[in-house]
Parts: sequence; C-alpha cells; structure tokens
Amino acid sequence: MNTALYERAIKVLDSNYQKGGFTIPSAGLYPFQWKWDSGFIAIGFAHYDVKKAKTEMTTLLDSQWGNGFIPHIIFHTENDSYFPGADFHQSELHPLSSKKYRSTGMTQPPVSGFVLQEMYRIAKDKEDMLNFIKTQIDKVYDNHVYFYENRDPHNEGLVYIYHNWESGTDNSPVWDDIWDTMNPPEYNFVRKDTTHVDASQRPSQREYDHYLYIIDIAKQNNYDDAKIAELSPFLVQDPLFNSMLIKSNQALIDLYGLIGGNEDKVKTLLKWQSKSIKSFNKKLFDTELGAYVHYDLRNEKALRYITSSSFSPFFANIPSAERAKVLVQTMIDKFGGDDKYLCASYDPTDERFNPKKYWRGPIWINMNWMLYLGLRNYGFTDLASQIKEDSIELVERYGFYEYFDCRKDNTEYEPVGYGGNNFSWTAALIIDFMKN
Ligand code: SER
Repeated sequence: MNTALYERAIKVLDSNYQKGGFTIPSAGLYPFQWKWDSGFIAIGFAHYDVKKAKTEMTTLLDSQWGNGFIPHIIFHTENDSYFPGADFHQSELHPLSSKKYRSTGMTQPPVSGFVLQEMYRIAKDKEDMLNFIKTQIDKVYDNHVYFYENRDPHNEGLVYIYHNWESGTDNSPVWDDIWDTMNPPEYNFVRKDTTHVDASQRPSQREYDHYLYIIDIAKQNNYDDAKIAELSPFLVQDPLFNSMLIKSNQALIDLYGLIGGNEDKVKTLLKWQSKSIKSFNKKLFDTELGAYVHYDLRNEKALRYITSSSFSPFFANIPSAERAKVLVQTMIDKFGGDDKYLCASYDPTDERFNPKKYWRGPIWINMNWMLYLGLRNYGFTDLASQIKEDSIELVERYGFYEYFDCRKDNTEYEPVGYGGNNFSWTAALIIDFMKN
C-alpha cells in the first residue's frame, strides 16, 4: 500500500470536515453538505475515525423531512460562494420540510442504506457499530418508503427523478434529449461555480436555465410530489439511482437481519426488491446496445445512450450471469482499450463525448468504486482490478481531483485532473480502495 497516498487522503478528508459535524465536498466550489457525497465520505472516515463517520451520517439523516425525504444539499451555513443557494431553493415551501435546516427541495441517489452496511463491514468493534446502526436505520427505511410511495406513479418498482441534479450525473449527454423538449426563459443570474473552476469543465449557462426552470415549476407547486409528477418536464427512471436504491434495500434487509425483529419492514423490503429488480431488467435493458439505459417517463421513451450508469446494476446484483457477460463486453468494447483509463462517464465512441466536461466523459472515482465492487462480486476480477488500479494511478499521478480525463495519450491536455481539487469522496474512496 502507498502509505504516503493514504496519509494524504486522510489530510484531505480531515481538512474538509466542518465544525457542524459534516464534510464539504471541496473548498470553495461546494461549501455545504451534499447527500451522496456524505455517504461516500462516511465510508472513508470509517477506516480511521469512526466518530466522524457516525457524525457524518447522523447529520445527514437529521435533515430528513416529515415525509421521509432526504434533501440533496443541506445549507448549514450562510455562504454566498455557491449558486443556487438556500434562498433560491426555498425548501420551506414544502409543509413537511425540516424546521432545523434549510435545504434544496430535491434529493440525490439513495446511498444511506449501503453506507451503513459498509460502515459495519469496516468496523473493528462490530457491536458498537451495530448499536449505532440501530439508532439510524429506521430513518433510512422511512426514506425508502418515501421513494416507493411518491416516486413510482405506475407502481412499477422503479422510482423517478424529477431533476438532473437528483441523478448526481448533472450534465450527462443523456439529458440533452430532454433539453430539446423544453424552452426555458433565459435567467439573469450569476454563476459561482465558474469562478472556482474553468468554465470548459462545467455545464453551460444555457443548461443552467433548464436546471433553474425545473426548480421554479417545483417551487410553484410547493414541492408537492404529485404535482411534480404531473408537471415536471424532467421525469426520468435512472438506472444509477434505482441501482443504488436496490443496493440499499438489500443492505437494509441484511442489517435488519443482524439486528433481529422488524419482520414487517423486512417483508416490505423483500416485496419492493423483487418487483424492482424484475422491472429494472425488463424495462431498462437495451438488447441492441447491450447495456442498461435511462427511461424518459415524461415523454415515454428510452434514452438510448451508454454511460457509466449503464454498468451500475453490477453494484446491486441486478443482471443475470448471462446478461452480465454482455454488459462487460459492452464496457470493454466502448470504454476499454490500452489508450484509456477506466471508466469514462460517457461512451467515448459517441459524438456527445467530451473528456473534460464534468459528467459528459470524465472518470469519477465514486462510479469506479461501485463498478469495482460490482464486477468483483460477479467474478470479473481482472476488469475489477483494472478499475481499482486505474483509480489509484490517476490520483497518485494527478492528485485528489473531482474528475479525470480517461485518455492516456493526453500530454497536450495536462492536467488530467479536473473540477475541484482536494475532493472529499475521491480521498474517501481511495482510502477504501487501498484497504479493500
Ligand atoms: N453538482 C451540482 C453542482 O455542480 C449540485 O449538486 O452544483
């Protein structure tokens, strides 16, 4: 193990940890607590500072609304270095929003279930960790109830997201088809992200108009889920989001098994689980592409593009062994090769691919971490190891960046680390990679 790298990763995490009991993803660019970041960060802390790992999750789950919803950004402090902030989002419009924290009115991928399970796996004192999990697990269960009761209008076992920021893959080329169906007004606003990071690595100004417009529609309806399902121009069943929900369902089943009792909850979770996996395989797999794809529920059509999210079902044990082989072949054919690190966030053979622009091509360490665990679980050990080695090499060579260029032959494009530096989940998951 590269001890120096491990020590540097710890330094990154510790310096991003805040007095309020949460960790910012990256200084300047992201000054608050983000939902899925927090989950990955807790996994890193679990290796060397159990107290911080617990606090990270406690603070996140403490932001839960009365209906089980957990928001995507929790605005712990007043800070005008980020746009759009608390005053734009106005979470207080929803009657059941948290009275303690201001937040956004949208969510992010459901990481909490599998994060608690990872914390248990990593913990040396299992009894102590299980006691902690007992105090938090019902909040995660309530969050899943929220999803299945409010985000699955046709009762398919597949939940929708109503905003691209809910996906976590903010400016994926997949959304371009949806932007083509919309014509939002041009907003007059000042971006803050492009004061921290080169604009060529971030979403465009016109894309932001779409992002803000969807929020405005949700706000006009006080973030009411039924109204959003009826009116939002963006309504998507995302394979990444649903994979993480399914992975977290399984984690809750396993953890309740360790805790004992809770038979009704386990029964409900098992029911969701079999329905979700069945629908996922039926609706989201594209045989011609050999990959899972997104489904646009508003316009009733598949969004037929291959992204790193297309492979996330490995993480949640969704594909059959036979389908897993097809999926691996697609990854090797489109995303692999000696000239590339794995795994680009968007199909490098497609014209929409952009190796520098956020979720339109660069490699993200959290995706690599999920793909590594999933592929290893399916027995694709060589491919899994390559993803792990590539991840460690990228960070060793270029630093703890937010995202990375997948092209090996890229001397003219230095540096290959993009976005925020000293990025928390990169550090947290490199720690887990080195220990796993
Ligand atoms: N990732 C988004 C941003 O760039 C918000 O979740 O601001």
